Amino acid sequence: MHTASVKQRYEDLKGQINFHNHRYHVLDDPVISDLEFDKLVVELRQIESDHPDWVTPDSPTQRAGAVPSDKFEKVRHPRSILSLANAFGAGDARAWYERVRKLDDRVEHARFVVEPKIDGLSVVLHYRDGFFVQGATRGDGEIGEDITANLRTVKTIPLKIPVASTPSPAGTGARLPSFSEGKGSGAGVRVPSYLVVRGEVFIPVKEFEKLNQKLAEAGEKTYLNPRNTAAGSLRQLDPSITASRPLTLLVYQILAWEAAPQTPPEPRSQWELLEYLRSLGFPVTRDAQRFDDIESAIAYTETWDKRRDELPYEADGMVIKIDDLPLAAELGFVGKDPRGAIAFKFPAREVTTQLLGIEVEVGRTGVLTPKAVLEPVEINGVIVKNATLHNFDYITEKDIRVGDRVLVKRAGEVIPYVIGPVIDLRSAAEKPYLPPTACPACGQPVEHLEGEVAWYCVNAACPAQLVRNVEHFVSRGAMDITGLGIKIVEKLIETGAVKDVADIYTLKRADILAAVTKKDRKTEKEPPGKIADNLLAAIQVSRSQPLSRLLTALGVRGVGEVSAADLSRAFPSLDLLALANAEQLQTVEGVGPNIAEGIVDWFGRERNQKVLEKLKAAGVWPTASSSTVGRPSSGPLFGMTFVVTGTLPTLSREGVKEFIEQHGGKVTDSVSKNTSYLVLGEAPGSKLQKAQSLGVKVIGEEELRKLVE
Ligand code: IVH
Repeated sequence: MHTASVKQRYEDLKGQINFHNHRYHVLDDPVISDLEFDKLVVELRQIESDHPDWVTPDSPTQRAGAVPSDKFEKVRHPRSILSLANAFGAGDARAWYERVRKLDDRVEHARFVVEPKIDGLSVVLHYRDGFFVQGATRGDGEIGEDITANLRTVKTIPLKIPVASTPSPAGTGARLPSFSEGKGSGAGVRVPSYLVVRGEVFIPVKEFEKLNQKLAEAGEKTYLNPRNTAAGSLRQLDPSITASRPLTLLVYQILAWEAAPQTPPEPRSQWELLEYLRSLGFPVTRDAQRFDDIESAIAYTETWDKRRDELPYEADGMVIKIDDLPLAAELGFVGKDPRGAIAFKFPAREVTTQLLGIEVEVGRTGVLTPKAVLEPVEINGVIVKNATLHNFDYITEKDIRVGDRVLVKRAGEVIPYVIGPVIDLRSAAEKPYLPPTACPACGQPVEHLEGEVAWYCVNAACPAQLVRNVEHFVSRGAMDITGLGIKIVEKLIETGAVKDVADIYTLKRADILAAVTKKDRKTEKEPPGKIADNLLAAIQVSRSQPLSRLLTALGVRGVGEVSAADLSRAFPSLDLLALANAEQLQTVEGVGPNIAEGIVDWFGRERNQKVLEKLKAAGVWPTASSSTVGRPSSGPLFGMTFVVTGTLPTLSREGVKEFIEQHGGKVTDSVSKNTSYLVLGEAPGSKLQKAQSLGVKVIGEEELRKLVE
């Protein structure tokens, strides 16, 4: 090939690779396979090794590979990198609006753009004639550090703008439209001769989790949170380390603009600015919206407070910005905070505090769980004193030591947990933690099952396990015995009055009186006699709880309230359930092989059989009659099992289930050889095939109705 056409090809390749890179990393919408992409890169590298003098900074090969430096140079920003004032709630946001409206009555008719406030690091990116020439950290807002080599490795940062916005053939031989000619590139957008944009660099939550998982698998220390990791990654002196971290970016501000001939005018609204930056190939949030008034902007912001976990990155709030940029600029600023925008903060979810100690709890099944005892700290309105440490491996993996300053997270419904230690704040006084070798409650040696992280106390008579068992047995969703609080339970176990849950039903008044301690008497307004009488009455009432409740109360692994209800419908007494094998159990909706195994195992244990005998002897032996579970144990469909698939002509899903159950039949989810009939409707699923292969009879709604006539 002619040198001129090789050069042409080189220019084309650069454009193409940058284009496909943008499709893949920014738009999340690649148009060629990884293999095709790699081929283009190989070809480009070949040309570059033949013609090293052609290599330009916008070549995709120039993202990584810069030599490590020993320090970062200082860079003066083209203008101050401002911060934002905070609003905590709608009231603060309205107050901000009122303040700026009073300053300038044009605000009255202003529109607002709401964008996620990404919890990352502010960076400043300089482009000369479309080439990325410099990138800096925020620093003190006036002077930052030159981290160009590191930022080049961030694949979503365009090395040259505009990035092509239309696909082009990716083959190798054909004459391609040349990117250097401007055809097919950036839809012909002319860029300013000098453009400086500001954005936020961060690590997406999913990528962060993957990164940590990889580290954990390699037995290495994991990172605390995406923000710290992103910060650390940007400040690496060796860009190849930065390149190995899943950093990305979103841009939201123009800091400098020098027009070139035919450049469009600088965007005058935030909304147009985001559109314009997107058209140049910059990554821009898809979650920004524009509103005609402040109330709709606030309403939108508030919806994100609940949905923040749907964002692919961590956001600590939303930013409400006056859309009209000249107006926003005229409003000026207070200190470093522009008046034209406000950060509407979400409640904090992570705080640091001191780890005072680690306690070990024994669960119902004997699992030992470490619990962090913390210097009390407020997180989003709640004082947190304890947090979970998950398991003992977690403590080792995160190198959590007693005395450490730890980062604690409390998000939504999740139990507060310790994320990890803040290593930089360590003195020499922190103590590494060793898991117990004996159960803290009964002193028996603990055991570890091959392949499981949990440590167990396998002593079936362990009082701590019994406390948890009883606690669960009497809880609201189970036998619902009010007045049997943890303190009394502990005492009853200590005195030997309760050795298993069945003993609750043979408790004497004297047993309870002995268990109501002096301390209780002081704090309780009621006299001990009254406490005992109330408790005995509550125990009496609980005798008539339905079978499903008792089944829940027994605490069989995997059997919660819902599956207990389904099981008691299919097996109307504990005698019948005890006889069922795993296969029969699995005909019940929601009961898979693991739960079925758990049930068989539970009923097979001698200790449990004893409890059942005692319950029976005490008269606590409910059976599922039609009055308690709404299913008759007779009727034309009694003893038959049905599976329904597809849409029936008149009966709904619930309707057909009710119809079958009213007539004594049973409905299950999956077809097995025990299925009597498959009831078939329109657009059936794979169940039909299964029924046919097992020789199960297939009927329609009409035939079903005939069965009960
Ligand atoms: S606007 C004048 N928009 O939040 C412009 N900031 O607490 C001021 N941030 O320092 C910033 N996402 O690092 C803006 N969509 C967004 C942002 C955002 C994150 C950061 C930024 C700023 C900090 C203010």
